[in-house]
Amino acid sequence: MSLTARRVIAIHVAPRLAVATRREPTEGNTFDLLGRPLRDLRVSLTDRCNFRCTYCMPKDVFNKDYQYLAREQILSFEEIERLAREAVSLGVEKIRLTGGEPLLRKDIEVLVNQLSQLRTPDGGPVDVTMTTNGSLLARKAAALRDAGMTRITVSLDALDQHTFSAMSGSDASVGTVLDGIEAARQLGFSPVKVNTVVRRGVNEDQIIPIVRRFKGTGVTPRFIEFMDVGSTNRWELREVVPSAELVRRIDSVFPLTPSGARPGRATSRTFDFLDGSGRVGFISSVTEPFCADCSRLRLTADGRLFTCLFGAEGVDVRAALRHGDGDLAGILRSVWYERSERYSELRGESGAPGTAQHAEMSLLGG
Ligand code: GTP
Ligand code: 5AD
Ligand code: SF4
Ligand code: SF4
Repeated sequence: MSLTARRVIAIHVAPRLAVATRREPTEGNTFDLLGRPLRDLRVSLTDRCNFRCTYCMPKDVFNKDYQYLAREQILSFEEIERLAREAVSLGVEKIRLTGGEPLLRKDIEVLVNQLSQLRTPDGGPVDVTMTTNGSLLARKAAALRDAGMTRITVSLDALDQHTFSAMSGSDASVGTVLDGIEAARQLGFSPVKVNTVVRRGVNEDQIIPIVRRFKGTGVTPRFIEFMDVGSTNRWELREVVPSAELVRRIDSVFPLTPSGARPGRATSRTFDFLDGSGRVGFISSVTEPFCADCSRLRLTADGRLFTCLFGAEGVDVRAALRHGDGDLAGILRSVWYERSERYSELRGESGAPGTAQHAEMSLLGG
């Protein structure tokens, strides 16, 4: 029986509260003030992108006068690897490369290769992955796979070229991104996930075509609620399409069944097609915040650590990385030890975004 028939709506508006439990650090385990372990590192490799998605880098702000990071501010691969090595010794098991657009970074496979060789304190592998806009993926996928990457996420907001161009602010073709996704699939990346940010009245009509396109191919589409991240995307709640509504709409065409509880630390909740032909995910940071088990630390391209996607300043570790000024492991440990952010939950409780300035998504790496 389908979800609609059973009237099951698994996505609730009420946020779960994080429980404050202070836990002492042990080797390979660093906990924050809310008892959340450090497990994921998201590394932004550049604040530049060849797209101008309206919800991330609106063209009127990110124009030719915008001050991007200067070359000398940007961390080298060696510096990133050193930071990542310390983070892995403190509990990180997954490293996600982001941007801006990470594939704009020259020779990125060299970094992927270095990071893939890191080992957790008990000798386990580190999962090195990436979120990309896909425009350069067809060219790069084989090099990434050969360097040790096994899974990948590609952003794609529409199949219709007109809507895609409007959302991405670029003249790239949908076909180029689809070619990148197909190249990754053919090379055995698994899973290949597709991220679609949904804006009310803009690309809602693309949801069913996207699901239809990838159903049965092994590629998992994930629909993301438009977030109030950064300070330039003119976010408004009325433009957010709640995941619960999307679940109902998709279920009425392609019957779904919940895959189970959202796995701890994951951003998405997934549903399986009842006919067994795959799954679809929903990232619901507005209507169902997932701060309670957020284990993500972010490193910007210029070497600042952010403990929340909605942070403002970050902690500068570039000097420690570049000149050996300061105890890197000590800095990392204390940054995580002092962490108490749960922005999305607080927004949910207050019903409105905070007024503080936030760093841009293109700097923080999503
Ligand atoms: P996997 O769980 O490994 O598939 O990756 P992911 O979902 O963490 O990574 P991805 O880069 O695909 O992010 C998907 C969406 O979730 C993007 O819109 C991110 O900005 C958003 N997201 C990722 N991490 C966080 C987070 O910590 N907080 C919030 N609010 N959103 C996040
Ligand atoms: N809201 C939701 N998702 C966003 N992304 C970028 N900006 C936003 C936003 N304002 C997504 C991108 C990419 C991922 C890293 O973050 O589409 O898939
Ligand atoms: Fe570029 Fe990704 Fe931001 Fe779009 S969402 S502008 S592709 S960094
Ligand atoms: Fe983590 Fe901050 Fe996102 Fe909450 S809002 S899930 S604390 S990054």
